[in-house]
Amino acid sequence: MTLLQINHVSHYFGGLKAVDEFNLDLHEGELVGLIGPNGAGKTTVFNLVTGAYRASEGSLLFQGHELVGKPPHVINGLGIARTFQTIRLWNQMTVLDNVKVAHHGRITYNPAEAFLRLPRYRQQEREIEDHSLELLRLFNLEQDAHERVSNLPYGAQRRVEIVRAMASQPKLLLLDEPAAGMNPQEISELMDFIHWIRDEFDLTIWLIEHQMRLVMNICERIKVLDFGATIAEGTPQKIQNDPRVVEAYLGEQVEEL
Ligand SMILES: Nc1ncnc2c1ncn2[C@@H]1O[C@H](COP(=O)(O)OP(=O)(O)OP(=O)(O)O)[C@@H](O)[C@H]1O
Ligand SMILES: [Mg+2]
Repeated sequence: MTLLQINHVSHYFGGLKAVDEFNLDLHEGELVGLIGPNGAGKTTVFNLVTGAYRASEGSLLFQGHELVGKPPHVINGLGIARTFQTIRLWNQMTVLDNVKVAHHGRITYNPAEAFLRLPRYRQQEREIEDHSLELLRLFNLEQDAHERVSNLPYGAQRRVEIVRAMASQPKLLLLDEPAAGMNPQEISELMDFIHWIRDEFDLTIWLIEHQMRLVMNICERIKVLDFGATIAEGTPQKIQNDPRVVEAYLGEQVEEL
């Protein structure tokens, strides 16, 4: 089953064509990679999918819904969640509060009900807290629930970001450089973790990464961008041996794979 169909999507920043005729069909349960040199347009593609930017041209169909023109919270409500290239957590808040905040899409009580602590407010807040704690337990972060995010080691903070994205119960999870700044041990753990989330939550995962060990080991299919245009797509095996990809991006890294 096709989950997301991206057809001929382009995006301009002034005169710069940051994304040029992007096409991709994502199928349910897939784990797909998006790679390419700095400035290739990878994050811009995620910003178009999540509604942070509006595509200049083309269409993005998610389970039959056209995403172009929809605001981020609506797209999130349809089942798409993401993490960011640099961590965007509320540092001074606890881990639990960071995850609770991500449930805002589910709230139906109004400010007066909250102020007066009426039953609907109390019940929803309790459900959100229970669901957040359950997620933290599943992700092995329960012991850090009441810790400030800024006190956690870097690898754990990145995990909290993924948990927070999971709070909206997405069908599609977009990870923008989840391994950035991690050491080799943390990257190995992250690879297991990503597989585990995909299987445990029946997710489709689309990730951007510069860490080729991670990409080549866990992605079933990879798309390569260079200056906004697709220069290759296929299995990790095919991508590693594609002379154009080696020339534009992989270079010496191929030796290490
Ligand atoms: N908001 C913006 N306004 C203008 N230009 C932008 C904006 N965001 C990105 N760009 C430009 O668009 C191009 C693609 O940027 P993008 O961030 O998508 O690259 P990327 O592939 O994610 O790179 P990296 O691997 O460094 O994260 C770059 O030339 C960048 O400078
Ligand atoms: Mg980027």
